[in-house]
Amino acid sequence: MYTFYLFSILTYMLTKKQTQVLDFIKVYMAKHSYAPSLEEIKKKFKLASVSTAHYYISKLQDAGFLNKEHNQPRAVSTVEAKQTVEIPILGAIAAGQPIEAIEIPDETITITRDEIGKQGKHYALRVQGSSMIDEGIFDGDIVVIRKQDVAENGQTVVAVIDDNEATLKKLYRENGKFRLQPANPTLFPIYRDEVEVRGVVVKIIRNLESQLDQGQSRDEKYVRKIDYSWDYRGEKTKSYTHGIHTYPAMFIPQVGRRLLETYSKEGDTICDIFCGSGSALVESRLIGRNAYGIDLNPLAIFLAKAKTTPINPQKLTKEYIALLDRVEKIKDNEIKRPNFKNIDFWFKDKVIVKLAKLKKAIRTIKDETIQNFLMVAFSETVRYSSNTKTGEFKLVRVKGDKLEKHDPDVIGIFRKHAEKNIAGMTEFYKDAKKDSWTKIIYGDSSKDNGIKANSIDCIVTSPPYGDSRTTVAYGQFSRLSAQWIDVFEDPNDASGIDNDLLGGRATKDLIHTLSSDYLKESLEKIAKQDEARAKDVLSFNLGLNECLKQAHRIIKPGKYFCLVVGNRLVKQVRIPTDFIIAELAEKIGFTCEDIIVRNIPGKRMPIKNSPTNIVGALEETMNKESIVVLRKN
Ligand SMILES: C[S@@+](CC[C@H](N)C(=O)[O-])C[C@H]1O[C@@H](n2cnc3c(N)ncnc32)[C@H](O)[C@@H]1O
Repeated sequence: MYTFYLFSILTYMLTKKQTQVLDFIKVYMAKHSYAPSLEEIKKKFKLASVSTAHYYISKLQDAGFLNKEHNQPRAVSTVEAKQTVEIPILGAIAAGQPIEAIEIPDETITITRDEIGKQGKHYALRVQGSSMIDEGIFDGDIVVIRKQDVAENGQTVVAVIDDNEATLKKLYRENGKFRLQPANPTLFPIYRDEVEVRGVVVKIIRNLESQLDQGQSRDEKYVRKIDYSWDYRGEKTKSYTHGIHTYPAMFIPQVGRRLLETYSKEGDTICDIFCGSGSALVESRLIGRNAYGIDLNPLAIFLAKAKTTPINPQKLTKEYIALLDRVEKIKDNEIKRPNFKNIDFWFKDKVIVKLAKLKKAIRTIKDETIQNFLMVAFSETVRYSSNTKTGEFKLVRVKGDKLEKHDPDVIGIFRKHAEKNIAGMTEFYKDAKKDSWTKIIYGDSSKDNGIKANSIDCIVTSPPYGDSRTTVAYGQFSRLSAQWIDVFEDPNDASGIDNDLLGGRATKDLIHTLSSDYLKESLEKIAKQDEARAKDVLSFNLGLNECLKQAHRIIKPGKYFCLVVGNRLVKQVRIPTDFIIAELAEKIGFTCEDIIVRNIPGKRMPIKNSPTNIVGALEETMNKESIVVLRKN
């Protein structure tokens, strides 16, 4: 009765819309026992932005309807004091790919006993990732977990798999196995024979402030525009020669094409200054642009050349069939067993023999472009038949029983890849514009690579994310292939290239003359916690600044330079690389025309990048990136 009376008076003081929002929150909470997100409020009331939704929440908080703690819109408080408990936030948990559990010391969250029930011990975790969005669990939420080591079918649990990788998923037992089911239709379940349950989710706490931060830019100098039309969720990304070989942080072809189509025209000469495996170059060839590609990783150069060189599919198929015949006939004593460091650690003996036979057979192909093209499938075969965990960019060896049972069908793997690649080349050969060219340069983009000044009509690129030793380890990723396919002069040097890439060598100190306030602010915050990491970040930005200068030199005045970049998290500091690039580039002689934010639905990114595998050293999963559009003045 009393509560109702209070409601009536207060409702009288609210506007009609505020009352509707409050009612919606109450009904929602009664149904779900947690609050709706700002996005859900925005959608329900067809509001212009999440900040309008936030405005209503603030008003309801000011009027006393919603609790201000944690910015969570809760139901109206009752008068009697409630018993509260302080729950430790033990770290972050991935609602996505499993990550190593990390700890955030000394953080706690206070909630009332009623919200979590009287029984049990509890802890809280901060959620990273979007695999549980259909369960109402979003990136940045805090989940309260009741400690228990058993769970019922369908409960949302903290599960630890493969020794120390924790994930938040719905748990099901089926056919003697466990299924860890994401609540996101775009993601696949994980199956395991063993799962260790560390607790069950009993409450979700949404941090509306952090959602607001993520949802829109607070900065006045530059504005980030969220544009979902750039996501290309669910679209085919492996058409033509795009799928012939995996490479870290590849472009979604649709993004590359759209940028090229928007900012250049047929017959133009474009450049990708960090071309990687050459996705933008493939697209440029398909839409009639001439292209330069530059990269400092020999494996990238090798792949980019293979992807962009059209080969007559009939000739290719003929050579391929002859190759399969030849492999069968090679005797064990006719092969040369490669002898690089740790070969027996990464490959089983009979795998080495089969790979060596395949390599010998490929090397006898006279046409060099065909030989290289089939070497690409061989390179994938090396990775898939090695003792490494698939789905990792870093070299991690499978363990125990799995290693024992590991018995890859080397020729079968090669055939699968080669045939898929030939199909891709057939498409590419048909559609690639015959009168356009692609030139691929092995070089450092922070230096002059011989491209003439003011000669390029458009640059489309995606720089490394920085600190390649700990995030996307291009060198590590390339090492096993490199040791087999002879792209490095000394194959044992392959992982060393990470030191030469942007950000690969930390600076001696933190003194610099780069004029970016955003960079300065980030460096200060990181240096307070870890000076060495701040030096890594500075080194990356110093290198990037030199690359921007070179880009400015080669591009024609008035033309566009598009960079697809990720804003990394280092030591829990989000580095606004997009804004830093904009600031640095404007000093060099560009104008920042646009910053578009897109989701990364399928991009292969590192899921764990702990440099040392120390608990607490894990730093990020990236699920958004920015497209910075610059124009030379
Ligand atoms: C994000 S990847 C590019 C991926 C590419 N868009 C694709 O689709 O495969 C960044 C690339 O930058 C290269 N890189 C790093 N530092 C470089 C430098 N100083 N000069 C040239 N390339 C560099 C890395 O080797 C890597 O291939």
